[in-house]
Amino acid sequence: MSFKRTKIISTVLAAAVLLLTSNTMVTAKTYKMAIGDAQGGTQWAMAEKFTQLFHEKTDGKHRISMFPNGQLGSEQDTINDASMGTLDFSTLAINNLTPFSPSVGVLTLPYVILGLDDAVTLTRGEVGKELIANTIRDSGVRIVAWAYSGFRVLTNSKKPVANVADLKGLIIRVPKNEIMIACYKAWGSNPTPMAWSETFTALQQKVVDGQDNPFITVSAMKFYEVQKYITTIRYIFSLEPLIISESVFQDLKPELQKAVLEAGQEATLFSEQYLKNSEAAIMKDLQAKGMIITAPADDEKEWIEKATTTVWPKYYKSIGGKDKLESVLKILGR
Ligand code: MLT
Repeated sequence: MSFKRTKIISTVLAAAVLLLTSNTMVTAKTYKMAIGDAQGGTQWAMAEKFTQLFHEKTDGKHRISMFPNGQLGSEQDTINDASMGTLDFSTLAINNLTPFSPSVGVLTLPYVILGLDDAVTLTRGEVGKELIANTIRDSGVRIVAWAYSGFRVLTNSKKPVANVADLKGLIIRVPKNEIMIACYKAWGSNPTPMAWSETFTALQQKVVDGQDNPFITVSAMKFYEVQKYITTIRYIFSLEPLIISESVFQDLKPELQKAVLEAGQEATLFSEQYLKNSEAAIMKDLQAKGMIITAPADDEKEWIEKATTTVWPKYYKSIGGKDKLESVLKILGR
């Protein structure tokens, strides 16, 4: 091969390498994800799995940085930010999404979801698909994965609670979610709505006496340091969606959208298994750390009766009608 030809070939190769490198530099991106809870809970486990899968599915090109423990603002703030396209992803509790997309409230009505199987049926079936579409329409964010976190149990620092009447005199923090506020009112107490990111400090400084969240969240947030008593009410099964800003999603190339959706499906399956594998051990660990667990009296009958008869009718309209609730219950075999 002549010197001239060799020179041309090497120049062309060098240009190709330069083009490839600069292309990689231009398109590789690190996305930001807010996470409401501290590391170590169901939100973190699902979100971490999602970020790993997303990285793999984009051939190691794109990454997601995770910001746990409300570092990027309250869970409701992160929905606003994602909606405006200034935040890419957020993992948060469903109750903090409901105010932005009221039909999602069907998943936070008390005693509708009675276990993990119900949660899986609703989130991964037709109901889930409809709620995802409604959420995009109402709030500009798209649910791409679910963390399953277990029932929200009641904790407090003052006394064992078994009966509804035992709530008297306790100041309970609740999320800024009308349905949950209405539940505590139906149980005869006057709850204090407060952002999740402020809750630990409020419990520590005794501004409030108690709150409710799943065992795994109580553990991840180290609430055992400031709470003594747990009551195993089962009024809401905690679902924690991973959302992406719809405007960010629409700006992604089709192969990246596919990576997001596939990573979301796989992370959701992972979360189901994670809950099954960890919840019982975490409950024991909380007892070992000194927390006292009380079951609600009389199989929770009074709690159920008061919450369902008072709260359900108030929210028929916002969830899409009484028929909607009936169809959801029918899907669940009730
Ligand atoms: C809340 O209580 O506001 C949330 O459910 C907490 C969470 O995101 O785990």
